[in-house]
Amino acid sequence: MSPTRFRQVAGHFATGVTVLTTGYPGELHGTTVNSFVTVSTDPLLVLVSLVTEGRARMSVGRADGFVVNILGADQAETARRFARSDRPTGAAAFADLRWRPAAEGGAPILLDGIGYFACTVTETAPAGDHTLYIAAVRDFDLLSDAEPLLFVRSRLTTC
Ligand SMILES: Cc1cc2nc3c(=O)[nH]c(=O)nc-3n(C[C@H](O)[C@H](O)[C@H](O)COP(=O)(O)O)c2cc1C
Repeated sequence: MSPTRFRQVAGHFATGVTVLTTGYPGELHGTTVNSFVTVSTDPLLVLVSLVTEGRARMSVGRADGFVVNILGADQAETARRFARSDRPTGAAAFADLRWRPAAEGGAPILLDGIGYFACTVTETAPAGDHTLYIAAVRDFDLLSDAEPLLFVRSRLTTC
């Protein structure tokens, strides 16, 4: 039951790639996340799993809401940027990206992404070293019909 082998096997499950953003006033934050899943259409619910000790988990906890931005095939650099531990904090992390604040909460919607879901947290559950967030979708849209960015076998790739 080795965690390394667990990660290796799980790595064969291909996912899309998102940047989860929060807009806590004066403290914008973005994190690369592939644990995003849609959960329900009545009501509209989604789920993300965030490492409990991470800044993303703390910023979602403070803001009570977030935006999930779906990345396109040409956004591997954006995915890498928001996964680096030494990235700039706050608005500086978004300085050269095109974005607008979500109507509720102000989290960045990345305008060069494929689409987004703006959400309000409805339930949280501790799960090992992660925290699960179930959230109600308040607004969503498709911004582009570009091919999606994928993550599989530890690599960012395309269809
Ligand atoms: C493709 C990819 C997917 C990731 N998915 C998640 C995820 O679902 N949840 C999570 O907590 N971290 C995830 N990470 C790791 C975070 O992006 C990374 O650890 C980040 O530095 C954490 O930042 P934070 O301090 O803002 O939480 C992922 C990283 C990559 C490259």
